[in-house]
Amino acid sequence: MNVLAPQSSFSNTPVALSPSAIVSIDLQIRSYIIDIGAAFLGDPQLYSNLPHASSVVIVSNTTVAPLYAQPLQSALQARYAKVHSVVLPDGEEFKTWQTLNLIFDALLQHGCDRKTILFALGGGVVGDMTGFAAASYMRGVPFVQVPTTLLAQVDSSVGGKTGINHPLGKNMIGAFYQPLKVVCDLDTLKTLPMRELSAGLAEVIKYGPIADLVFLDWIEANMDALMARDGPTLAHAVKRSCEIKAWVVGQDERESGLRAILNFGHTFGHAIEAGLGYGMWLHGEAVGCGMVMAAHLSQRLGLIDAAYVARLTQLIQRAGLPVVGPVLDEADNAGRYLDLMRVDKKAEGGEIKFVVVDGAGSAALRGAPDALVREVIDGCCV
Ligand code: NAD
Ligand code: GLY
Repeated sequence: MNVLAPQSSFSNTPVALSPSAIVSIDLQIRSYIIDIGAAFLGDPQLYSNLPHASSVVIVSNTTVAPLYAQPLQSALQARYAKVHSVVLPDGEEFKTWQTLNLIFDALLQHGCDRKTILFALGGGVVGDMTGFAAASYMRGVPFVQVPTTLLAQVDSSVGGKTGINHPLGKNMIGAFYQPLKVVCDLDTLKTLPMRELSAGLAEVIKYGPIADLVFLDWIEANMDALMARDGPTLAHAVKRSCEIKAWVVGQDERESGLRAILNFGHTFGHAIEAGLGYGMWLHGEAVGCGMVMAAHLSQRLGLIDAAYVARLTQLIQRAGLPVVGPVLDEADNAGRYLDLMRVDKKAEGGEIKFVVVDGAGSAALRGAPDALVREVIDGCCV
């Protein structure tokens, strides 16, 4: 097991986020900061240290642009002569080559050059696609993440994983490409639909069992406040999640080992997303249910006891997330899950690798016999 001990260097005591909190991600020349606070989107100060450019482009979608593009645009106009925008269709099912091309079309039509900065304004779908567009346009232009979902603020905007889905596998096409900075405006979470808030909580919960049992205790004690969108409580959840992610990514930017633990629940979860069709279950819902399945697998491998599985399951349920897996194939459900999981990026030579937890706040990547995995799937799906 990779033993993680970030507890000693971080605090789980909620801090008042006034005027802001800053989390640093230490990646040598690719280092950057995550600014976390309220009323940030339209504050020109947040963008004042960015490089000069003759134009910038805000990439958003049909839901987020009407809500938040205007304040961001005004703030950027204080610094940049030309502020263009691209509005993408909304939804996981649009995380495709076709949608990516809409970004490239706009960049070319506006005559964007190598200094043009892209701003990803939205959830993880917009962030992942904008990051991939930035990684590939003219072989790389700078970009800034402005995440507006809880999931994007605690996970997808941080760490430089960018990309799109392929019909045969989730996030299979992409690049590691770090942003210049991340601007988390907690006020944007006020308009997030409840189902999306729950989806984000799945990724918050994830950090407890893999890295920080003190944080797990804190999430349990504060789940009602999180669901009620209490400001300081959400602020602490975002800050602590970003600290843990920064700690992991700072040691293993390109997932040669340790970073894989951030995929707790994702092997089963990605199978659910691909098997049902992208957009049927939200990514966070699939991860929440996937964590229940991964906890059962950890138990069957002798790493944790039934009480810990029940504890995690109850917490995931309290976050409003599904804890029973969908049936993907009436004839051979476990076989369908296994087929889908073999396409996972962590698989090696066709052997599926799972992130398992040990109950002591650490996680590891392991293979497991198909028969055991079948038992887990059969026990977790109806
Ligand atoms: P999403 O981007 O689809 O956003 C969820 C929904 O909320 C969308 O309909 C969006 O338009 C809407 N929305 C966004 N902000 C809003 C706001 N403030 N108010 C109202 N509505 C708002 O989904 P997500 O959960 O943010 O991200 C999921 C994606 O992130 C998946 O594609 C997943 O693979 C990816 N992801 C990537 C990483 C990474 O490391 N790059 C990590 C985790 C997840
Ligand atoms: N969300 C998993 C990772 O960033 O590695």
